[in-house]
Amino acid sequence: MSRERTAYRCQACGSPQARWSGRCTSCGQWNSVEEQAVLVPLVVAAHKQSSWATELGGAGGPGGPGPEVLALDQVDLEAHPPMATGLSEVDRVLAGGLLPGSATLLGGEPGTGKSTLLLQLLASMAGAGRRCLLVAAEEAAHQVRRRASRLGADVAGVYVIEGTQLPAIEAAVAHLAPEVVVVDSVQAVNDPDLGPSAGSPAQVRECAHRLVAIAKACGAALLLVGHVTKEGALAGPRTLEHLVDTVLSFEGDRYLSLRSLKAVKHRFGPTGETGLFEMGETGLTGVADPSTLFLGDRRAGAAGSAVTVPIEGHRPLLVEVQALVGRLSPVPRRSVTGVDPSRVALLVAVLDRAGAPVGQHDVYVSVAGGARAAEPAADLAICLALASSASKCAVPGDLVAVGEVDVRGLTAAVLARLSLGGGSRWGETPHAPRLGRSTPSSSAKARASSRSAPWPRPRARPSSSSASRASCR
Ligand code: TYD
Ligand code: MG
Repeated sequence: MSRERTAYRCQACGSPQARWSGRCTSCGQWNSVEEQAVLVPLVVAAHKQSSWATELGGAGGPGGPGPEVLALDQVDLEAHPPMATGLSEVDRVLAGGLLPGSATLLGGEPGTGKSTLLLQLLASMAGAGRRCLLVAAEEAAHQVRRRASRLGADVAGVYVIEGTQLPAIEAAVAHLAPEVVVVDSVQAVNDPDLGPSAGSPAQVRECAHRLVAIAKACGAALLLVGHVTKEGALAGPRTLEHLVDTVLSFEGDRYLSLRSLKAVKHRFGPTGETGLFEMGETGLTGVADPSTLFLGDRRAGAAGSAVTVPIEGHRPLLVEVQALVGRLSPVPRRSVTGVDPSRVALLVAVLDRAGAPVGQHDVYVSVAGGARAAEPAADLAICLALASSASKCAVPGDLVAVGEVDVRGLTAAVLARLSLGGGSRWGETPHAPRLGRSTPSSSAKARASSRSAPWPRPRARPSSSSASRASCR
């Protein structure tokens, strides 16, 4: 028995609403709240009224069949170990691999390589003897096969089903009983019983819900591909993120070869790790040692360049911050990639205050190779790159700058000198130095000697310190 109840839900973001309104209280979308009839099983409603004691003793009353209640410390930890995918960068992010009965959402912009990554994953897992099913909801089976041959992947043991209809997909999963199921993509799957609106948030949510349920029932590891909108949100309802155990984000500029895989949510492990890949002619290759990946094309002695070390997960990366201080402009332009634009705005103001008037100039800052250095510890390298560009004075090639700069221009800096080719040496500044000129008189002389530079060139002082070995051109 069941009774009908009315509920309201936003069709854009999927969040439940207490009552109807013209605008969703969660995502702000207009005219997206719709009324839905919900069937509440009366037996559940009645059951909810029963006391906890009765429930633990058995819903059927004393002596009746009760729910299985487990002592948590008796649950076998080793019974369901993670299944290694064989792709070390994926396993790194997943803390060992895919758990049986888990659901993972892989989000990314079109063209980043989600289908490629998952086909490589399936081939690898099938090679390890696991039964794998690919639900090709966006491509034909022959197109998938063509991609596999481009990758040189041995796809023996990978099964594929074309089509978008949920009942057929459910039947295939139940029939094949795979250990790994990839649905590419969840937005393309629809259930004809839910009406014609394929791809609508309600359809996507319901289909994802049922796919997760069947995967959990079969003990299969489910991977759902989800498209990401330009704004970076997973298209369709955000509630998809609540439905799954793990949300992975696959990112990268489609015009560059670097791709990164991050766990945004992971119920079974930490979320800090990043997997790095290079997209090549034959698919994705894991980057095991990224420490010098981004410095390969660095030109020693060029002004406007400084090296810093953002930490990706547990791995330090050496990245090159490049800056260009352009012409004076009444409305200066700012163009920033790979670093935090608000930090750049702050650092330009700090440099201005410290006697390096770059604020009236066009300023361009980027991180080479499509890498990111968004953490505050990159501040010092950004300042050095800007100052270097403005003064046309190169930062020493073996200097690595790590330090946050605050609004007063003080920095708890760690200046590290690494011999990038051989042994390494690290030095830490004993106190927080202030960015800017050492004495007014020295800066005045420097300004007088350099009319053409956007700001005064520093005087070359004979010293053995790395900073004073900067080469000015
Ligand atoms: P794809 O996996 O289809 O991306 P998504 O599923 O995220 O939309 O990959 C698309 C891009 O990857 C496409 O621009 C071509 C490129 N690519 C390679 O560079 N090398 C390869 O071996 C493959 C298979 C794709
Ligand atoms: Mg794809």
